[in-house]
Amino acid sequence: MSQHLLLPLVVFAIRPIPGDFKDSAFGPTQEQPEDLDCGRPEPSARIVGGSDAQPGTWPWQVSLQHGGGHICGGSLIAPSWVLSAAHCFVTNGTVEPAAEWSVLLGVHSQDGPLDGAHARTVAAILVPDNYSAVELGADLALLRLASPARLGPAVRPICLPRASHRFAHGTACWATGWGDVQEADPLPFPWVLQEVKLRLLGEAACQCLYSRPGPFNLTFQLLPGMLCAGYAEGRRDTCQGDSGGPLVCEEGGRWFQAGITSFGFGCGRRNRPGVFTAVAPYEAWIREQVMGSEPGPAFPTQPQEPQSGPREPREENCTIALPECGKAPRPGTWPWEAQVMVPGSRPCHGALVSESWVLAPASCFLDPTDPDDAPPGDLGAWRVLLPSHPRAERVARLVPHENASWDDASDLALLQLRAPVNLSAAPRPVCLPHPEHYFLPGSRCRLARWGRGERAPGPGALLEAELLSGWWCHCLYGHQGAEVPLPGDPPLALCPAYLEEEEAGRCWNDTRWSLLCREEGTWFLAGVAHLSSGCLRPRAFSPLHAHGPWISHVARGAYLEDQLAWDWGPEGEETETHTCPMHTEHGACGLRPEAAPVEVLWPWLAEVHVAGDRVCAGILVAPGWVLAATHCVLRPGSTTVPHIDVYLGRAGASPLPQGHQVSRLVISIRLPRHLGLRPPLALLELSSRVEPSPSALPICLHPGGIPLGASCWVLGWTDPQDRVPVAAPVSILTPRLCHCLYESILPPGTLCVLYTEGQEGKCEVTSAPPLLCRTGGGSWVLVGMAVRGSRELFAAVSPEEAWISQTVPEAHFLPPSGSPYWPPEGSDLCPPDLAGASGSPRAALFLLLLTPLIQG
Ligand code: ARG
Repeated sequence: MSQHLLLPLVVFAIRPIPGDFKDSAFGPTQEQPEDLDCGRPEPSARIVGGSDAQPGTWPWQVSLQHGGGHICGGSLIAPSWVLSAAHCFVTNGTVEPAAEWSVLLGVHSQDGPLDGAHARTVAAILVPDNYSAVELGADLALLRLASPARLGPAVRPICLPRASHRFAHGTACWATGWGDVQEADPLPFPWVLQEVKLRLLGEAACQCLYSRPGPFNLTFQLLPGMLCAGYAEGRRDTCQGDSGGPLVCEEGGRWFQAGITSFGFGCGRRNRPGVFTAVAPYEAWIREQVMGSEPGPAFPTQPQEPQSGPREPREENCTIALPECGKAPRPGTWPWEAQVMVPGSRPCHGALVSESWVLAPASCFLDPTDPDDAPPGDLGAWRVLLPSHPRAERVARLVPHENASWDDASDLALLQLRAPVNLSAAPRPVCLPHPEHYFLPGSRCRLARWGRGERAPGPGALLEAELLSGWWCHCLYGHQGAEVPLPGDPPLALCPAYLEEEEAGRCWNDTRWSLLCREEGTWFLAGVAHLSSGCLRPRAFSPLHAHGPWISHVARGAYLEDQLAWDWGPEGEETETHTCPMHTEHGACGLRPEAAPVEVLWPWLAEVHVAGDRVCAGILVAPGWVLAATHCVLRPGSTTVPHIDVYLGRAGASPLPQGHQVSRLVISIRLPRHLGLRPPLALLELSSRVEPSPSALPICLHPGGIPLGASCWVLGWTDPQDRVPVAAPVSILTPRLCHCLYESILPPGTLCVLYTEGQEGKCEVTSAPPLLCRTGGGSWVLVGMAVRGSRELFAAVSPEEAWISQTVPEAHFLPPSGSPYWPPEGSDLCPPDLAGASGSPRAALFLLLLTPLIQG
């Protein structure tokens, strides 16, 4: 008996069929003399989730070779004929030359042929006329061998089903091949033929699974002539390299080929069973092709009538498989939280990724002082603690990532438990992302402990965060000029924006974190942060995406789960790559996405609430400093500092859902030393720093007035109650024109603007709106603050550069660009006819035609 016959092959026991169900087509009257004994392996003697086959178990399995390597599987159906899949041979609509192919027969492992193994060249490749692409069906091919195969114990043909043959749904059949053992994970040396037991799925049940969006949010319409086999829960399947190979089912002591491996969506994924070409419907085509060949393939009568399986109702529901990983009863009690106890050191926190494997930072176990970073030899005393698991598990093996010792982002190791744990509500593995996973901006995430380190202060492990878009993540923390990966491309970093406000003085120095992100109630281990973020919460995490293949390669059966949330929104349609605007030595400033709608937050716009009776606009110029108009924060003549609250990340009285509000008290007001007049600009010192984020980010400053090629806006709000920010586009007049227009009243260093037609009423005058410009490079720069009672006149910031950088060393002054804005003294002779136009911007419009603007 061959090994597999001992297994319970047919789980739906074949029961005698009630008489009235008998179909004469199946009756013994159809029996024909057989010219070939088929489907019987010699009595003696990848496939995802399969195992090594015993030699001689599947004697019809052949390997199709091209260019010296295995490309596809096939099955011997007659001494001179091999059945395979069309897509193995058709490229760009043409069948490849037969002479380039050869067939290996009687092979068990690709490097050690069985007794009787031999090769044959291919004389002809026949593909049905209606084959065009795998997903359109008719994916089969016949190969005529140049000379007949030598039949023997290791080389025997399989039986083919007649067109009337019905394979009962639920029947356990077997697929075999030398294909990948997981997605992008080839069968390892010595390439022993793999076998996997797959259940036949009814057409309706399979269609029902494929009608639910799966990987890449795709659904699929099955076509006649296709057959599904596998499991809703996935994990066992055929994969790349198995194509063309047989799916065989045993009936009455013979093996019949029910299907030809054709395609799937990924391999072994949930609700995506393998799709095979059904062989029975092609009886006539096969007979036609092999006509005249002696002996030809055998089509034995179906030994027993099928049971009721095929009478599957068309509208059959299916049992959708739900993720088996990543379910947590409540955030913070993570059923995958593993603590690795190594004698003599603090516990190391990791995550259970399968029944037998724990992922943790390699730095917990490797000695950085050891030049070879050799993993410790004695794992005997190591123990792993898992939630709700009574025993401390022993460790059998430690597999550090090959780059662990020099690449922070690869600081990972896998620990194999001596015995697999029973998965239940706890312990339960966390889900891992496939390489193509795209965690949507705004995904809800939490931090979990990772590696060794101090306990987090307070309930820090529960810190709730929202993922920032790739643009923010890269431009806030990445390098200036960095290219931002497109949505769906592998991210270089994942950045959470914490929902709870930063607490002053909380130091997270010695703690590492992993980032868990939730999709549809399922938690993924999205990334890990390295030490080094100083006293801050981790802001950029290394994504785990790229490590999925390594993890599943080592810890076969790790729970890589499909993306579950697909609502990419407008960002998902992004096809243009962006590069990040300039950083200063103090980091990012003046960032705002190019295409941001106006109502989106202006990250540096602060509401300055003065003494509870008025609200002015302020601009964040450094993490602890806001610049505002003096007249707005200090009453004329008054010298007492009023109570001032500053709000950031607030767009109007009703906050945006995404906006994370931050409030600070003003602890001092600084004014530059000016002779005579009260200086127009004031710096407000905040009670504590505000860490940079898309809702609270310092603006850039420019030392030379208006940066070259900039476009400018006045930013404020129309309604003093609602305070929804509005930006009115303006042009900045040349100093000469400005001076001539407002001659009598202008202090030096005043900028005049001209509103785009119809925009002049936009900003509330009492809010003392700021004047901003966006440089050609994409950085936003604060240029001036409105002078009292005006929308047209602004106190320029750049003349105060020395004072600002002295008071606020962290202020972001961009390197100077362009020519100086302020003209040399005395060059400002006004055209005589301008006097009457004074004070009227509309009159200036006329003059603009005569005098060049700083920008258009
Ligand atoms: N098309 C693949 C090949 O050429 C076979 C893929 C089968 N995939 C699956 N998930 N069942 O080898």
